[in-house]
Amino acid sequence: MSDGDLREGQAMIKNRVSDLVGRTPLIQLAAADGAGTVLLKMEQYNPTGTAKIRMARNMVDEAEEQGLIAPGGWLVEATSGNTGLGLALIAAERGYRFTAVVDNHSSIDKLRGMLAYGAELLNVSGGEDGLATAERYATARRIAAEQGAWLTGQDSNPGNPNGYRPLARELCDDLGEDIDYLYGAVGTGGSLCGTGRALRERIPDLKIIGVEPVGSIAFGGDGAFYHQSGTGTPEISEICEVLDYDLLDEGIKVSDSEAFETCRYLAKNFGILIGGSAGGVVYKALERAQAVGPETTVVVLVCDGGERYLDTVFNDEWMAANGLFDAQVVDRLATMTQPTPADSTRKAPVGIR
Ligand SMILES: Cc1ncc(COP(=O)(O)O)c(C=O)c1O
Repeated sequence: MSDGDLREGQAMIKNRVSDLVGRTPLIQLAAADGAGTVLLKMEQYNPTGTAKIRMARNMVDEAEEQGLIAPGGWLVEATSGNTGLGLALIAAERGYRFTAVVDNHSSIDKLRGMLAYGAELLNVSGGEDGLATAERYATARRIAAEQGAWLTGQDSNPGNPNGYRPLARELCDDLGEDIDYLYGAVGTGGSLCGTGRALRERIPDLKIIGVEPVGSIAFGGDGAFYHQSGTGTPEISEICEVLDYDLLDEGIKVSDSEAFETCRYLAKNFGILIGGSAGGVVYKALERAQAVGPETTVVVLVCDGGERYLDTVFNDEWMAANGLFDAQVVDRLATMTQPTPADSTRKAPVGIR
């Protein structure tokens, strides 16, 4: 082997974990005969297991470029989920202190993940159960104003949507202009709007469809509790500045049962383990693929994997206790997809599974 060969081999060695962000795979879901093509952009294959590392890294990159922060500095964000994991990893890698302002609604797994990366957690729930969104944001802003931390501010920071431009480039590299619909969950709106805006520069006719849980208020309707985590806008929250309504062709709603039965169905019939919000987006994308016919390509942004939801979405007792099983949804999924023949007996299981 020559020296040249050795150097080529060494080029595969990365210096930082964040160099592994991106170039996530696409999986074609076996949709029913006559339906459009449904492609899942599997963002769980990023470090931290979610798309949000893309925007976490980009918010820090842009702030460093603008001279707002430098390694050794202090980052703060009101986050209890995937954004916090991303910021925690970037902070560890670059030598920042990171404080995540969280509440009792946060998933324990995600909090443990942040701690593992060395983040500091500040819980503002004060003994109350559940969401303390307003208090989280107020506390994060106070720490920034009074103690000199830099608030990453995913709700209003353009670095959030800008962080998804590479995702759009990856889709163009893989699919050219052969994308008719882009589907994504909408929380801040950063991932869908950032990807959609960049994609539309190349594909002007692209249709961009946002999906939120029933009970979320970004696309109208009454606010109500929902179980899909990390996504949507709860009644007590404000709609994020980075959500660009002008960019969206439609904003639609999906129920918790549709979302979670889809996750469970994909895991059992295809070995595809995705998170709860992504389940809802896939369900709606399958409906669209069914309606538009075979010449159409629908791309779904899958925000994260199912591993973090084993105690909820994939837990039979939890599903039953919350009244989330729905055999009609499973029947509908069976008509919209083509499970492998060996699995056909699993199409519409009934009762507690
Ligand atoms: C699981 C999950 N789904 C969907 C979203 C929504 O993504 P965005 O904030 O880019 O709209 C998030 C955001 O954190 C999330 O964690």
